[in-house]
Amino acid sequence: MFLAHLLHQTGVECVVLEARGREYVEGRVRAGVLEQNTVRLMHRLGIGARVAREGLVHAGTTLCVDGESFHVNFSDLTDGGAITVYGQSEVMKDLNLSADRLGIRVIYDAADVAPRGLDGSQPVIHWNKRGSRHELECDFVVGCDGYHGVSRASIPAAELETVERVYPFGWLGILADVPPCNHELVYANHDHGFALASMRSPTRSRCYLQCSLDDQVDEWSDQRFWDEFELRIGADFTSKITRGPSFEKSIAPLRSFVCTTMRWGRLFLAGDAAHIVPPTGAKGLNLAVADVVVLGDALAAWYGAGDDRGLNDYARRALDRVWKAERFSWWLTNLTHRFPDRDRFERHMQIAEFAYLRQSRAAQASFAENYVGLPLDF
Ligand code: PHB
Repeated sequence: MFLAHLLHQTGVECVVLEARGREYVEGRVRAGVLEQNTVRLMHRLGIGARVAREGLVHAGTTLCVDGESFHVNFSDLTDGGAITVYGQSEVMKDLNLSADRLGIRVIYDAADVAPRGLDGSQPVIHWNKRGSRHELECDFVVGCDGYHGVSRASIPAAELETVERVYPFGWLGILADVPPCNHELVYANHDHGFALASMRSPTRSRCYLQCSLDDQVDEWSDQRFWDEFELRIGADFTSKITRGPSFEKSIAPLRSFVCTTMRWGRLFLAGDAAHIVPPTGAKGLNLAVADVVVLGDALAAWYGAGDDRGLNDYARRALDRVWKAERFSWWLTNLTHRFPDRDRFERHMQIAEFAYLRQSRAAQASFAENYVGLPLDF
C-alpha cells in the first residue's frame, strides 16, 4: 500500500491484489514501532495527520537484565532521534482511507492469485473472485505478499537463493486495556526468558513473553501471563503493572530469513516476501517501507525516462539495508533471549554485552541509531 501511494504520486497506474478482506488487513495485530523514516514517508504521502496526533513519540527505551534496568536515550545519542509507537493496524487504516480518496485500486479477497510470464516482457496475473476468473496484463509485478505468498514461490528453485535462521522459541503476545507499566518500552532478559513491555496508547498495553514453541495459547491464562510478566520485567516496573483481561493473545515463531533474489525478470520482491526479521526491534514494517522507497524511485525513473538502472540496482540497494536490519534484529534477539541450547560461556557473553552497553556511550549510540532507523534517502 505504501508503494501504491508512491506510484500514484508519480502518476504510475497500479492495482493492489489482496488475498484477504479489508477488515482482516486492518485488524491484524503486528509490531507497533515506526522508525522516523516511516513517519516521514507517511507525512510525505499525506497520511501523517493521525500518527502526528495519536502516535506516541519515544525518545528512549529501557533495557533490563536479571532485574536491573538502565535507560538508553535515543534523542541524545542520535541528535534528536526517536521512534513512534503506532500500531501497524492503524497504519493500514490510514493507507486504506487514503487509497479510497485517491482512487487507488485495491481488490480484496483475490483468491488463487497466479502471476505468469514474469521472465518475459508482459507478465499476466490471474485470480478468482466470487467465483469468476480475472486477469490483468502489466509491466511489472511487485510481490508484497509476505513470507507465505505466491510471488517468491513463482521464482524457479534453481534461481532462488535464501538464507535462514530459525530460533528455538516463540513470542506470546497479549493486548489488554490497561495503562502500560512504563512510559517507554522495556526489553527484559530474565532467567525465565525475554519479556517486553510495549503499548498501543496510554491506556492499552502490548506485552510479550518468550515462550516455548510447544506452548499453546490456551495454556496461558491471563493470570499465568501476568504472573510471569511481573517476574521477568524487572523490579523497577513490577509495582507499576496494572493487570487486566487480554483481548488478543497469540504465539508467533521467530525467524531470520533473506531471499537475496529480490528481482527475477519482471518480478520484484519487497517486505516479508523477501525477508523476515525476528520481532525484537520491530523492524519488519519499517524494512518493507524502505524496500518500496527504493523500488518506487526505480519505477518512477523507468516510466519517466526509460531509465532501467534503478530497477537493475534494486536488489543490491535494498539488500544493503536488509542485511543491516537483519543483523540488528538478530543481535537484539541474541542479547535479550534465553537460548535453551547455549552454555554458561554464552550466558556470560550476554551479561558482558549488557554491561558494556550500560556503560559505553559508543555501544549505546550504535544501538540507538539502528533502533530509530538507519538513514534512508528520499
Ligand atoms: C510492539 O509494540 O508490538 C513491539 C514493540 C517493540 C518490539 C516488538 C514489538 O521490538
